[in-house]
Amino acid sequence: MLMSLALSTTVTVLLCLLGFRKCSGASAWTLKGKIVSGEHWLDDEGGIIQAHGGSMLFHNQTYFWYGENKDAPTEWRSWKMPDQEWWYTRTPALGISCYSSSDLLNWHNEGMALKADGSHEDLEAGQTLERPRVLYNNLTQQFVMWVHVDDAGYSLCRLGMAVSAAPTGPFRYQGSMQANDQRNGDFTLFKEDNGTAYVVTASQKQSMDPRFMLLHELSIDFQRVLPNPFRILPPLDRESPVLFKYEAHYFLLTSGSTFWSPNAAEIFTARALEGPYASWGNPCHGEPMDQHGITFSSQASFAIPLQAPGAPGHFLIMADRWQSNDLKESTYVWLPLHISLRVQKPLQLVSKSGEAANDDNEDPGQDEAVRLTAVRRIALEWRSAWDPHSGLNLPGTSLKYREGRSRVHRLPVAFVARYGSYIHGPEPPDAGLNKG
Ligand SMILES: *[C@@H]1O[C@H](CO)[C@@H](O)[C@H](O)[C@H]1NC(C)=O
Ligand SMILES: *[C@@H]1O[C@H](CO)[C@@H](O)[C@H](O)[C@H]1NC(C)=O
Ligand SMILES: *[C@@H]1O[C@H](CO)[C@@H](O)[C@H](O)[C@H]1NC(C)=O
Repeated sequence: MLMSLALSTTVTVLLCLLGFRKCSGASAWTLKGKIVSGEHWLDDEGGIIQAHGGSMLFHNQTYFWYGENKDAPTEWRSWKMPDQEWWYTRTPALGISCYSSSDLLNWHNEGMALKADGSHEDLEAGQTLERPRVLYNNLTQQFVMWVHVDDAGYSLCRLGMAVSAAPTGPFRYQGSMQANDQRNGDFTLFKEDNGTAYVVTASQKQSMDPRFMLLHELSIDFQRVLPNPFRILPPLDRESPVLFKYEAHYFLLTSGSTFWSPNAAEIFTARALEGPYASWGNPCHGEPMDQHGITFSSQASFAIPLQAPGAPGHFLIMADRWQSNDLKESTYVWLPLHISLRVQKPLQLVSKSGEAANDDNEDPGQDEAVRLTAVRRIALEWRSAWDPHSGLNLPGTSLKYREGRSRVHRLPVAFVARYGSYIHGPEPPDAGLNKG
């Protein structure tokens, strides 16, 4: 065993020296000061960053990156149906890791924010902990983490919650429940400008049902899910919700449900958080052209707003490039998403093509934010690297992204909403937390 390890290290070093393969130990991340999508990213001590299905909290001028630590052997499991068997891979839960950075480029490993230490039945090593999200509650001055909790066969479909006085933890686990009595899988948290927080869940009633999307309000301490959620997407079987806001528009980026395999993203927009949400289709644009249909071989996980002066409407989309046969080797893909708005005039002349014949003022400035606007274009664009030395600045950081040579394609202006109004409710009341 030791022999073969030593041998394989030697071979790797040789191949690196010969230039035959990328040397993850000498990642572009640290050496060239760039973020290169699809490569291993290293922390400030040279460890490979294990923060999959991640999210970002910006607090006290610091970025805190929470994600799944999948540094364990990948195991194969199957679901046995009467007439067939479905195989899938997983890693046993180790816990939720936390990394901190002041510039999104240099990351310090803060250790395990929530450890799967067996102190609760949800935290047994055989269980599943996915897609952690953390909000700061300034009323209780606690950091509140929500996390998808499951067993090895994904039959529990619950949301767990943990609190901590420090962003890096250790978080104290409080228990889990099915939000509003629905089986919930992927989810996200969203804090409204007025401080009200929400959880968005990809939910289903029965395990084989297609998932719909629910928006549940959280209690003022962010620690309980309130009853009467809004159904914001019908059973389209979308998952991995990424919800963000720009200029009084809400954006809900989603993936399809194909387990670890990449699939086409679909983005929905609304003028109110509760909806109705309308589809803008797949926002992926640019090279490589053949990767559009599969979101550049990744699945989006979170959106970070970039308030770059003179370049409004930019978000950094964090995504995962899952390696299903060795999940700890999964890498990160960070891409810019750009939203442009058009100013809507009270009276619009509509041309024959259906395009509103008004001015094309892109991105109204701060003073014009009160004007009525409509989404004109949403583009998630391929960039091979984020580079501190060229391109667009991120606020509070030295990071910029390389403009690259991506071609940009416009969506049809007269976009027809495929899914009009899907608000139903009320849903069943809160089931309460299962204190273990
Ligand atoms: C804010 O960050 C600084 C530097 O990282 C740290 O020294 C300080 O304790 C933090 N303050 C709070 C309130 O977390
Ligand atoms: C809490 O957040 C609200 C809303 O953002 C803000 O108005 C208030 O000043 C904050 N309170 C504290 C103690 O930071
Ligand atoms: C915050 O804003 C939302 C609309 O997005 C609204 O539904 C909610 O009632 C507001 N909460 C408070 C406390 O004002």
